[in-house]
Amino acid sequence: MTGTIIDGKAFAEGLRQRIAGRVAELGRVHGVQPGLAVVLVGEDPASQVYVRNKAKQTVEAGMRSFEHRLPATTSEAELLALVARLNADEAVDGILVQLPLPPHVNAQKVLEAIDPAKDVDGFHPVNVGRVATGGGGLVPCTPLGSLMLIKSVRRDLAGLDAVVVGRSNIVGKPMAQLLLAESCTVTVAHSRTRDLPGVCRRADVLVAAVGRPQMIKGDWVKPGAIVIDVGINRVPAPELGEGKNRLVGDVAYAEASAVAGAITPVPGGVGPMTIACLLHNTLESCCRRRG
Ligand code: GUN
Repeated sequence: MTGTIIDGKAFAEGLRQRIAGRVAELGRVHGVQPGLAVVLVGEDPASQVYVRNKAKQTVEAGMRSFEHRLPATTSEAELLALVARLNADEAVDGILVQLPLPPHVNAQKVLEAIDPAKDVDGFHPVNVGRVATGGGGLVPCTPLGSLMLIKSVRRDLAGLDAVVVGRSNIVGKPMAQLLLAESCTVTVAHSRTRDLPGVCRRADVLVAAVGRPQMIKGDWVKPGAIVIDVGINRVPAPELGEGKNRLVGDVAYAEASAVAGAITPVPGGVGPMTIACLLHNTLESCCRRRG
């Protein structure tokens, strides 16, 4: 048996089209154009690729994109001053400060300086608290996209056993909160969990967000489970040529897809959902702020 392959790329395209439609209507009816500001400090190559893709897809959705590229030597005070300007700028509905930040900058302090109403990453403690208490916060993009993919194959999750492997603030913890709000019985597993394979085997919904290539094996997966692979790991691929890499997830896909009821591939699963959800949050923030 091979599980359903959840096509995140196609789902994200559909979501972006629906967002573009709503953005066009906002412009026509209310004369409003949502705006997203992205702040990149330094020259981290992976971050540069992300920021370029974000800007491109923002413009394609009909929104305004404001890019702020600052040198790695930017001080914390300069960054806080920019965040304050963006908070006050009426044309900006969403603010994203790309992580990681250089070590001399206190990232938490910067994230907490963002107006919670414009915090499209959902990292501000006010939004974290609202999501945890079940209402109204901007939801971090990767867990939000993961939940949409889960619900694309099963609408009602009530009573299911969900296991989230990974306890990061960006994915694991908010993912657990979203699944709890869907009335799942949620376990958050991590590097110190005893009998991780046994814990995973209980999961009707298994979300892997650990950042370890192909760690979750096929025999850790309950037959018929929904498996969401958040991992994006670059591993050497000598079969593609010397020095070449390929992307793999946190799940051993070939083994797991033979057991799972539905599974996301890497690439083409959760990855494309993240930017689509960022646009979703920017539109959401615009509608809430400008009513
Ligand atoms: N760096 C890698 N992923 C993310 C993300 O989702 N948000 C931000 N701000 N930075 C990131």
